[in-house]
Amino acid sequence: MRTPLLFLTTAALAAVASAQCNGDSSLCTKKFSEVAYVTTHNAYASTSNTAANQHYDIVQQLTDGVRGFMLDAHKPSSGTSNDIELCHESCSILDAGPLVATLTKMKSWLDANPGEVITIFWENFDNFTPAQFQSSYTSSGISSMVWTQTVGQAWPTLQSMIDANQRVVNFVDTGANYTVAPWCVHKAVEKMNLGRANHHLPHPICQALHAEYDFVFETPFSVLNESGFVCTVDRPKNPANQNSMMYVMNHFLYGSLSIAGIEIELPQPGKVNTTNSDASLGLQERTCTSTFGRIPNYIAVDFYEAGDVFQLLASMNGVTYVEKQLGGTKTTSSSNSQATTGNKISITIGNGGIGGSDAGRWAAMLTAVVGGVAAWVIVM
Ligand SMILES: *[C@@H]1O[C@H](CO)[C@@H](O)[C@H](O)[C@H]1NC(C)=O
Ligand SMILES: *[C@@H]1O[C@H](CO)[C@@H](O)[C@H](O)[C@H]1NC(C)=O
Ligand SMILES: *[C@@H]1O[C@H](CO)[C@@H](O)[C@H](O)[C@H]1NC(C)=O
Repeated sequence: MRTPLLFLTTAALAAVASAQCNGDSSLCTKKFSEVAYVTTHNAYASTSNTAANQHYDIVQQLTDGVRGFMLDAHKPSSGTSNDIELCHESCSILDAGPLVATLTKMKSWLDANPGEVITIFWENFDNFTPAQFQSSYTSSGISSMVWTQTVGQAWPTLQSMIDANQRVVNFVDTGANYTVAPWCVHKAVEKMNLGRANHHLPHPICQALHAEYDFVFETPFSVLNESGFVCTVDRPKNPANQNSMMYVMNHFLYGSLSIAGIEIELPQPGKVNTTNSDASLGLQERTCTSTFGRIPNYIAVDFYEAGDVFQLLASMNGVTYVEKQLGGTKTTSSSNSQATTGNKISITIGNGGIGGSDAGRWAAMLTAVVGGVAAWVIVM
């Protein structure tokens, strides 16, 4: 009686496994570098805030199929915490909390979804060392899942990364250091093994925190209108190995606000249906694919749930698009759609201060950005 049961169980497992590899079994045999991933620009920035780039938090993003996450590493604006904090521009403008909390959530999600491979892109705003990153990666447990890649070598298939359970690829824009391993490993091990040395701990984040521009180039990112979505190499400048690198196609729009002589660029949720449409996002993808001779690996967007993002992704990866409901509980109030609608927003500082229903929002923003001026506006 046992044999048929076992057989059924194996068959059921096989059925689950066949749905794996980032949602489609046909991707399993593709190299990591041959697959496209929806990537969220400032993935953590989903709090109710004018500076927010996303409406849904990172766990919802994962559930919806986002597989690349752009994160900003900042020092906390106050307190004595040594944690890396996820903030936008400044922790006094938008603070999404300590990195370890977000990594812990990502780790839980990855545990529950063993066929998924993700990428984290770091903007190392406050020049943290690899060892400082290591601390949060270790505390969250996600350090056991990081993939380590050698410059110049071919990427593995998604299936190999899944089999090894090393499904988190990490890139940092500045501050990578592949040579700090001994110190970095010891630090991590001491934490995990109560001081007993263990030289067999795999994949310290020091080596797995790859210098992004050794592996990936990016198209321009500070785009203020449709004509800015071009297919040129913006970072790094003149890469030596452009043809063997993966690439990020940045496709998010900013509105520019000039106030008190300070230029502020804000996300544009009010325009996202156009920005993320096939006519805009798809057009840039087709142009870049033709220009560079291969699909972009990362299509980086704001407000990923809008437009044709996942339809385009399916077509890029040559898989069938399965329609699904995106987004769960909204984490941002709809007032955010009032962000600038043109290249400039007109705000009068002086008699009357900032008018209309946006007053509180702008005042809070300006308090953070230009301190005294904003305080004066609020008083008005
Ligand atoms: C890497 O870290 C080591 C050890 O701390 C240091 O000596 C070296 O200068 C660092 N290299 C870079 C490129 O920062
Ligand atoms: C579009 O933005 C670019 C910079 O990305 C700027 O040079 C150009 O003047 C803008 N065009 C319009 C019509 O605003
Ligand atoms: C985008 O389109 C959706 C679906 O048609 C609509 O519900 C939403 O209000 C639109 N958003 C904006 C900012 O226009």
